[in-house]
Amino acid sequence: MISIELKVNGEIYAVSIKPNETLLDVLRDKIGLTGTKKGCDTGQCGACTILLDGKPVPSCLLLAIDVKNREILTIEGVAENGSLHPLQEAFVNAGAVQCGYCTPGMILSAKALLDRNPHPGEKEIKEAISGNLCRCTGYVKIIQAISAAADRGSGK
Ligand code: FES
Ligand code: FES
Repeated sequence: MISIELKVNGEIYAVSIKPNETLLDVLRDKIGLTGTKKGCDTGQCGACTILLDGKPVPSCLLLAIDVKNREILTIEGVAENGSLHPLQEAFVNAGAVQCGYCTPGMILSAKALLDRNPHPGEKEIKEAISGNLCRCTGYVKIIQAISAAADRGSGK
């Protein structure tokens, strides 16, 4: 076992890990942040998406030991001051959450998009979530939710 520190949602967590443990497993099993979901565990579904230094990546493909000293954002860190993030609200309002398994990853991919491009078109939204699979919604409401959150951001 190796002792490392990880910076997750602005907090430092000291964890004892095996060198081959994925960030996904460490987040869920050692830190207790289970909002990040495990789907395929092979980089195909996007359920485990987190933001690493602001960029969406599948945490099942990252070794925890390789992301020391990096900024990790999970779904638990998206709400601000106890209020839902506009994307979270928009997903609820649009009915874009069904089973919810894809939702944390979808929201983080969408957040990365809106952080770099506050006014994306539909094509850009589709590209941004192209690595996130949803078995339930048919994607239409998810795309509507991301558009609505972008519109709301522009009205601030
Ligand atoms: S669980 Fe990581 S991409 Fe599917
Ligand atoms: S809401 Fe069920 S997988 Fe997307």
